[in-house]
Amino acid sequence: MRILATQESVTKLPADAIVVGVYDEGVLAAPAAAVNAAIGGVVGKMVDAESITGSPGEVTLLHHPAGLEVDAVAVVGMGPKKRFDRGAAFVAAGAAAKTLSGKRRKHVGLFLEDGLAADVLAAAVAGAQVGCHGADLYRKEKNQTPFATLSVGGAEDTAVGAGEILGTAVNVVRRLVNEPASVIYPQSFADEAAEVAQAHGLEIEVWDEHKLADERCGALLAVGQGSVRPPRLVILRHRGGGPNDPTIALVGKGVTFDSGGLSLKPSENMLTMKMDMSGAATVLGAMQAIARLQLPVNVIGLMGLVENMPGGGSYKLGDVLTAKNGKTIEVHNTDAEGRLVLADTLCVAVEQGASKIVDLATLTGACMVALGRDVAGVMSNDEAWQDEVLAAAKTCGEPAWPLPMFPEIYDEQIKSPVADIKNVGDARWGGAITAAKLLQQFVGDTPWTHIDIAGPAFIEKPKPHIEGGASGCFVRTLVELVNLERF
Ligand code: BES
Ligand code: MN
Ligand code: ZN
Repeated sequence: MRILATQESVTKLPADAIVVGVYDEGVLAAPAAAVNAAIGGVVGKMVDAESITGSPGEVTLLHHPAGLEVDAVAVVGMGPKKRFDRGAAFVAAGAAAKTLSGKRRKHVGLFLEDGLAADVLAAAVAGAQVGCHGADLYRKEKNQTPFATLSVGGAEDTAVGAGEILGTAVNVVRRLVNEPASVIYPQSFADEAAEVAQAHGLEIEVWDEHKLADERCGALLAVGQGSVRPPRLVILRHRGGGPNDPTIALVGKGVTFDSGGLSLKPSENMLTMKMDMSGAATVLGAMQAIARLQLPVNVIGLMGLVENMPGGGSYKLGDVLTAKNGKTIEVHNTDAEGRLVLADTLCVAVEQGASKIVDLATLTGACMVALGRDVAGVMSNDEAWQDEVLAAAKTCGEPAWPLPMFPEIYDEQIKSPVADIKNVGDARWGGAITAAKLLQQFVGDTPWTHIDIAGPAFIEKPKPHIEGGASGCFVRTLVELVNLERF
């Protein structure tokens, strides 16, 4: 999809379809008011009749309205005018694009509001790209067809450019996560990362199973033992800052399929477990965007890639693993594998000189019990760094909420009678936190924040602005976070 900025007015743009916005309580944004005047007040009448309310994600299509030379006007709800921010723009543009891309269209004009800030316009552009792409990778007749051209009203090229970079990165994540585990496994994921690195000038290192053994990554390797697909660890490096500037590490859980291993999952729970590499995919997408935006910050992205399978060589309950930092872990459940993969990957991040770490993982069902499907759980060893991550998420409109890490309460729940720690808590209560407590053992004193995206990474049912399946959540937050570090 070609995306262009335009200064043409909404009623003059030669497009097949145009998108205009209405706020809560039926308040027309300026372009909607211009369109309303041109088509004889139809939008206003629909507002009066409460067929248009302006609630977020509401889309009303007006076909061939008299007075305009377009096939369709999409009137999209934008929510409260006071809170029309990046998140609202992403949803509004996404919902309109999702509806309009249900038909093949050559040229669509996006005119949510006049005088929008560049970051809000960029979010709208990203949302439009997400709305145009579905999860039906393997269907001949796709639900959505991206427009040949999207023109963004009242935008500068830089805002459109930044939005295109963000939207493309989100869609890269969504595609990788939506691909089945027969297509995306550790080596093929590493190949995808190499292509991204090559295309956008990132340095890349791929550790195979031999290198991982040399590096004593005993926890990550154990998880991979049951699979015929050997594990990989990918390190991407963006040198945007000076040689003496700090380095931020983005770390992702990349379990390309989580069968549970010998602690086998029931079939219903296994069906969507191709999504268990969402954290790693998010890191890859964010690194792509960071490189393309040429952010002046040093960033490394680390992806621990493993397939968790039951097999003759599987790691077993009762096994004691030695992670890269020498800590020993007793295995009580092979389905608590993500924390083992991350244990070694976090050690590598520290060794590579990370001054601050953020990790993303579809780590626990318990996090979904705590916060629901749409909200990510955030846990940390450093309140200031956690606050920065939460602020970035809020700015981007990506719901995230902190969970406590009280040492006196949770630390003893992962003690093992045999080893330094065990890979599950004493009971299932507080499972998101006991998982994070294990991770904390592998970051030393480095400020670290963990985002459990088990809920929002993969959505069960479609939403107005996005198809069901992979969401690409937190790519925008990571890019924002890195962007904040330039100051
Ligand atoms: N990948 C799962 C967590 C998950 C569950 C993500 C549902 C998305 C949706 C993780 O590896 C896992 O299996 N966790 C276990 C931990 C338990 C065995 C301590 C869980 O949450 O049940
Ligand atoms: Mn698991
Ligand atoms: Zn898992």
